[in-house]
Amino acid sequence: MTQTHGSTAGNGAPAPSDRNSLTVGPDGPILLHDHHFIEQMAHFNRERVPERNVHAKGSGAFGTLEITGDISQYTKAAVLQPGAKTDMLARFSTVAGEMGSPDTWRDPRGFSLKFYTSEGNWDLVGNNTPVFFVRDTMKFPHFIRSQKRRGANGLRDNDMQWDFWTLNPESAHQVTWLMGDRGIPKTWRHMNGYGSHTYMLYNEAGEKSWVKFHFISDQGVECLTQEDANRIAGEDSDFHRRDLFDSIEAGDHPSWTLKVQVMPYEDAKTYRFNPFDLTKVWPHGDYPLIEVGKMTLHTNPENHFAQIEQAAFEPSAIVPGIGFSPDKMLLGRVFAYADTHRYRIGPNYQQLPVNRHRVEGAYTYQFDGPMAYDHTGDRSKYAPNSYGDPFSDLTGPAEDGWETDGDMVREAYTLRPEDDDFGQARTMVNEVWDDAARERFVSNVAGHLAGGVSDEVLERAFEYWRNVDEQIGKRIEDAVRAGQHGDPAPHPTEALETV
Ligand code: HEM
Repeated sequence: MTQTHGSTAGNGAPAPSDRNSLTVGPDGPILLHDHHFIEQMAHFNRERVPERNVHAKGSGAFGTLEITGDISQYTKAAVLQPGAKTDMLARFSTVAGEMGSPDTWRDPRGFSLKFYTSEGNWDLVGNNTPVFFVRDTMKFPHFIRSQKRRGANGLRDNDMQWDFWTLNPESAHQVTWLMGDRGIPKTWRHMNGYGSHTYMLYNEAGEKSWVKFHFISDQGVECLTQEDANRIAGEDSDFHRRDLFDSIEAGDHPSWTLKVQVMPYEDAKTYRFNPFDLTKVWPHGDYPLIEVGKMTLHTNPENHFAQIEQAAFEPSAIVPGIGFSPDKMLLGRVFAYADTHRYRIGPNYQQLPVNRHRVEGAYTYQFDGPMAYDHTGDRSKYAPNSYGDPFSDLTGPAEDGWETDGDMVREAYTLRPEDDDFGQARTMVNEVWDDAARERFVSNVAGHLAGGVSDEVLERAFEYWRNVDEQIGKRIEDAVRAGQHGDPAPHPTEALETV
């Protein structure tokens, strides 16, 4: 027997053969003690981790965030100080599709960012839309199931989608986005990213503000028509993944300008609508965009599984100078992501190279568990201790806290004078879009509604759109009743800046 290639078994010893199993004679049965063969079979059976429950199909790349502006008056976060350069990872995705689903389905796109800052990892896990379908985390699993597959036939189902949306009218703003031109980006490079939630910033003096993060594509915002998206879905279901990888490989490094909107802390108490409601944007007229820096993606993953599939983004990862807010979606997500990672990847997911922080001398009281790699030798496993090992002991008001009071209740947010479900959707339809964009929108919605939506849900959908705008609702209803729907007219992929 000769060894020609020199691969190894899991224990590092030479592997006997990657071609032939060990048998009794050339035609005989395979022997159980061919441990290399058994190892190959057994490990192969365990090659996958579960796909993400949502945002399963995606890809990403590494890059740098460079701060060119100065918002040090609002935040002490090292990653946001003038001149700071921070390594980072981005992952883009669709929401509802499974791992092999086409990149060009109409869906919001995930826009996940992990910044390996000197003070710990900061993850901003946003979308390409600044708003979301619901405003309480309790609804999220229900929402997602309505977008996924039916119990019996395993098919996605427009009736479920419209049933959910129309029974939860706060979805109107996001559904308007979804059914408009931006519902299918041309490439991931041609979409903006939004932190979406309202977060807190606080400075060295402890002064707090509220903030929204925007990553504006330097490539411009360009979109696909339904017609083109359908065609591409058949021709190349990995269209967006391929585009990003090939662009970076060719030295064409996409970039985004980081801008923030900052709201003075006290404004939030009396602002005309709830500034923590994730179904709303803050109009730029009230809180203008401030330029902060630039994010550039320049390095492809060396291994998709190790660096993208096992990447674990979590809104709970924040750093000093950045805080959460009373947004009930954000607060729910702060729990959900780390929990899903512990299930999907394992409790020590933070030790994987792609997820690990870059903080020198960090000491965490997390020990052992499956696949533990990091360890602290014989140092203290408890705190406080008499042996000089770290002990955290902040007391008093939380630096990143806010005032709260009242009885425990299960209720929607307290309404403000301009809190409603349809107003900002109406503004987008009437004031942001032109006639051609409205035409494509009517066609997209009518085409979707014509795909197997029951009469009861259909009636509710017409009312939903009439609530957004009487005229647009009527046009949608007329188009569905007349069977005038399907692929919308092609349109130029011009930049569309709506927020
Ligand atoms: C509040 C209810 C929400 C819950 C409970 C929730 C839960 C989840 C879960 C469990 C995952 C899978 C994570 C993984 O396996 O790695 C996920 C992924 C994701 N979610 Fe959410 N989500 C919520 C809302 C949102 C919102 C409002 C946004 C955007 C503003 C968002 C953006 C994303 C993105 C971008 C990913 C993909 C992360 C990646 O690239 O690995 N989610 N979400």
